[in-house]
Amino acid sequence: MSLPAPDASWTPARWRGRPAAQQPDWPDPAALEASLDELRRQPPLVFAGEARDLTEVLGEVAEGRGFVLHAGDCAESFEAFSADAIRDKLKVILQMAIALTYGSGVPTVKLGRIAGQFAKPRSSPTEVRDGVELPSFRGDLVNDLTFEAGARVPDPDRLLRAYHQSASTLNLLRAFTKGGFADLSRVHQWNQEFVATSREGRRYELLAGEIDRALRFMAACGIDLEAELQLRQVDFYTSHEALVLGYEEALTRRDSLTGDWYDCSAHLLWIGDRTRQLDGAHVDFLAGVENPVGVKLGPSTTPDDAVALCEALNPRRRPGRLMLVSRMGADRIEEHLPPLLDAVAATGHPVVWACDPMHGNTFAHSSGYKTRHFDDVMREIRSFFGLCGSAGVWPGGVHVELTGEDVTECLGGSEAVNDDELEKRYETMCDPRLNARQSLDLAFQVAELLRH
Ligand code: PEP
Ligand code: CO
Repeated sequence: MSLPAPDASWTPARWRGRPAAQQPDWPDPAALEASLDELRRQPPLVFAGEARDLTEVLGEVAEGRGFVLHAGDCAESFEAFSADAIRDKLKVILQMAIALTYGSGVPTVKLGRIAGQFAKPRSSPTEVRDGVELPSFRGDLVNDLTFEAGARVPDPDRLLRAYHQSASTLNLLRAFTKGGFADLSRVHQWNQEFVATSREGRRYELLAGEIDRALRFMAACGIDLEAELQLRQVDFYTSHEALVLGYEEALTRRDSLTGDWYDCSAHLLWIGDRTRQLDGAHVDFLAGVENPVGVKLGPSTTPDDAVALCEALNPRRRPGRLMLVSRMGADRIEEHLPPLLDAVAATGHPVVWACDPMHGNTFAHSSGYKTRHFDDVMREIRSFFGLCGSAGVWPGGVHVELTGEDVTECLGGSEAVNDDELEKRYETMCDPRLNARQSLDLAFQVAELLRH
């Protein structure tokens, strides 16, 4: 079968001619254009070669030889920006990756929702509180969370602030992952105090002890551990939802080596469940860049939609180019996912199937907080593994919202966050995140599912 040639009529601005859902109502077009011009002059945040490396490792995942841990904040914040918060998030992701890799024997691809995850799609364009109606908060890329009319006006200066915060976040992540912090001989140091005292923390300590012994054994066999970069450094990739397309367009550059277009705002970009319309601007935009891309699929996705998205986003069927992320909810996945798995499998499209067990399980708690229950999260993941198994499809990854901090945003887990505790440390800007203990618990359970 001959595969279609790349679409030569595509340009980074072509999306402007298509319906674009969820775009901010920028009040001052000239100010917006000035910010976008400034962004166009900024250096890329990631390089095309790195995005190609990620495509390659995701290609391995698509073949069943790896597993993606896609994790980070629902929304990054200007306010809660600190080196410690980045370090702690990285710690829990590294811990989870250790639990996953050690437990399953399969390499773990570490993909952060970080260094660019600043824009949020909203179910409603406005928010009403005590009879006052204001535009919804759309993420720090666009407006301010404070419930005041002025704060909710989209401000294009925020595009630049988000770019610069992404650059410094990425800089620190590169330093941590390549400069010694992620060295396997430091596994114990990733276990934070409040995690170490929990059941998962103790389980992690045992595992870290085994890794120590294995490293000593290798050294005793004469292997020069200092020389093994694989043990001393970690490949960590970044991603965010490509939602505000002006921002993404301004950071899209032609690779000097291949002549191909890359969205250099992150290694992987994804399309949300609310913006995956086939004739829409988001699909058109991501169809033209060469980065690996993801698409979230909620319960309204039909098998034809899933197949058409594969055709639109990966017409040349490159393994590792496309990740489909099921986010059905624990009560709906058994009904809605199997037809999608079967339809895509029947086409032979090489996709990475991942499970986001968070966004279909959000509910409003009686206390007023938006939350999720750890049991629902695990129930959806178990169903995902079972359904993939029945369909003969490799379960390629999990996509979770988490933080390295000791927050009380999601209910349950082994050291359970109880109903009356949500208010204690509910700090998220948007959706409720797993805390570090719940995250590690999830990783151990997923490792067991992978092993079987
Ligand atoms: C998200 O990932 O934060 C999100 C909004 O997801 P979805 O598009 O699946 O609702
Ligand atoms: Co979210």
